[in-house]
Order: sequence, then structure tokens, then C-alpha cells
Amino acid sequence: MNQWILPMVGERVFVNDVALRDGFQIEPVFVPTDDKVKLANGLARTGLHKIEVTSFTSAQAIPALRDAEAVMRQIQRVPGVTYVALVLNARGAERALACEVDEINLVVSASETHNLCNTRMTRAQSLQVLRAIVEQVRGKMAVNISVSTAFGCPMEGPVAPQEVLAIGDAFVSLGVNGITLCDTTGMANPAQVYQSCQGLRERWSKTAVTLHFHNTRGMGLANVLAGLAAGVRHFDASLGGLGGCPFAPGASGNICTEDLVHMLQNMGYDTGVDLSALLACARGLPSLVGHGVPGQLLMAGPSDRHYPVPADFNDTLTRAQERDAQSAGARA
Ligand code: COA
Ligand code: ZN
Repeated sequence: MNQWILPMVGERVFVNDVALRDGFQIEPVFVPTDDKVKLANGLARTGLHKIEVTSFTSAQAIPALRDAEAVMRQIQRVPGVTYVALVLNARGAERALACEVDEINLVVSASETHNLCNTRMTRAQSLQVLRAIVEQVRGKMAVNISVSTAFGCPMEGPVAPQEVLAIGDAFVSLGVNGITLCDTTGMANPAQVYQSCQGLRERWSKTAVTLHFHNTRGMGLANVLAGLAAGVRHFDASLGGLGGCPFAPGASGNICTEDLVHMLQNMGYDTGVDLSALLACARGLPSLVGHGVPGQLLMAGPSDRHYPVPADFNDTLTRAQERDAQSAGARA
């Protein structure tokens, strides 16, 4: 492995939150529309770069997001924030256009098996459908293409990096605005991420490259560092660490937005995000989803949190000082 060189302190790193889409899509409870809208409005005021608000998919497939139109129409758009929605087919693109989303996030899997499970199409069929959507929305909204299972498929196993590059190249040549490589079930390791992502910024120089990690095996934030060292500056994450694809066996939460922002800020990078405002949003999550969330910062607080010393601290100190005085006396 080559030696990693991390970006200079002060560099801008962009954080996108996907809790409202990736997070809620796998929750068994339906989070009421008003609560989704409040959360989107709260997140938009934290300084996040993008917010993935919902998906325009089939209500039978993803019942938790069946209120996509209502959510999109009720949110108060904050200037400077890009509001994104996930789209898998032409009908979804039409719905997104009608709601004037800023950007659609199109999805195809690098693995044939996961693509069939997720979209009920072969990869070739998905690519055909998605290419037509890029033409359909050209000039009307931005387009990002997400490549799922880019670092491994829970059913097929390893995914050849060439497969991922070929999909990326095809969409770059169509002029999409961004490409996201997704580690759908947390199979990537940092060495693999570094190797796969090195040179991507140069290869797709006019297209924003984003990494989307799930923390299924605890490697999520380490993978972010590997991505940073390889030149990537955009990362998806989910508030509270919620998330997962309902059609990927073994899926679990994304890397946690507040944990990611905290790490990046402590390392001296500029995220543009107000961490305490983000934590205030995260605190409301357990009551929305009806269970605790995996994020660490919600439990521990930021690392600059100071605890009071124990009540018997002064006694302990006095006794230690007395021992010093006694041994000094004995030496004299
Ligand atoms: N919006 C709303 N409804 C849609 C839709 C869309 N974009 N696309 C399809 N539908 C509806 C159809 O109208 C049909 O409804 P009906 O049964 O009442 O007639 C039903 O969904 C099935 O449609 P069909 O075209 O036969 O699609 P399918 O059964 O092959 O399902 C998908 C394909 C992609 C539409 C569906 O599997 C889906 O939405 N999956 C969601 C995947 C996802 O979000 N994964 C996680 C994020 S990556
Ligand atoms: Zn995901």
C-alpha cells in the first residue's frame, strides 16, 4: 500500500445527510410527514451541503417513504442547500421533476444480483432506463449516479473495480454532475477504498465524486480517511447512523453524520456544519423511529465535553500530597 497523505488542515470537506431517505427507508415505522419536514428543515439549517430528502419509488416497495411528494412540497428550502431525491425509473423522474427537486440520485448496482433484488431489472435494463432519464431531465435538474455494492455484494461477494469504473465512465460521458460509490453493506476496508479511489478525481475531473459508507462492520470512518487520502472530498452519512437497503441482506446503518462531522472538525477540516445544531436534530431521532440509534456522539458527547471531577477528589488529592510530605520528611 502506498503511503497515505491526508489533506491539509483547513481544507473543505462536504457532508451530505441521507437519513430521511437511506435512514427511514428501512425503518418499520412510518415517520409522520410533519416530523420528516421538521427534520429536513432542521438539517438544512446546520450547514450541510446536501440533504437527501426522500425517494420517488414504489410505495409497495418502500412504504416508509410513500409521502415523498408531501415532504418535498412542505419543506422550506434553505438557499445553498441541495435537496436530493432518489429515483430508479422514469416515473420516479417525472415525480421528482414535478416537485422541483434540485438533484436526482439515480441508482444502479455494480453487482447483477443486488441490482435485480433492488430494482427488479438487470444492470443492462437499469442502465438503459437511467440513460433515458439523464436525457429526460437534462437542463432541468442536476443528476447524481450512485453505484451500489461498489466495494462488494452481500450475495455475490467481491465486485471487480473495472465494473464500477465502467458504469462511472458511461455516466460521466453523459455529463452527470456527480458519481457516488456506495458500500451498501459495509464490506469495504480502508486499503481497498484507498486503492479503488486513487486517481478517480483525475479520471472524472469534471464530476463530483462522493463516497457512501455503511458502518456495518465498524470500518466506516476509517474508510472516510482512506477516501480523503485518495483525494475524495464529498461524503454521505446519516443522522444517528440510521440506514440500510431493505433489499440487501445484512444491511445496517450508514456512517453517522454527527460522528463524521465531529471527526473531521477535530482533525481541522472545514465542514461548514454547526455540530451542536446537528446534535440537536439527532437527539429527536430515537422518539421518531422508536428505538435507540447507533451514533456514538449522541451517547458520549463531543470530545471537548468536560465532566466534573468526582466529589471525593479533594480528599484524594490531600492524601496524595500528605504521602509526598511524609516521604520528604523521612528523607530529611
Ligand atoms: N413511483 C411510484 N410508483 C411506482 C414507481 C414509482 N417510481 N415505479 C413503479 N411504481 C408502481 C407501479 O405503478 C406498480 O404499481 P401497481 O402494482 O399499483 O400497478 C408497482 O409500483 C410495480 O411497478 P413495476 O413497474 O411492475 O415495477 P416492479 O414491481 O418491477 O418494481 C421498482 C420496480 C424499482 C419500481 C420497485 O421495486 C421499487 O420502487 N423499489 C425500490 C427500491 C429502493 O428504493 N431501494 C432502496 C434504495 S437504493
Ligand atoms: Zn446506503
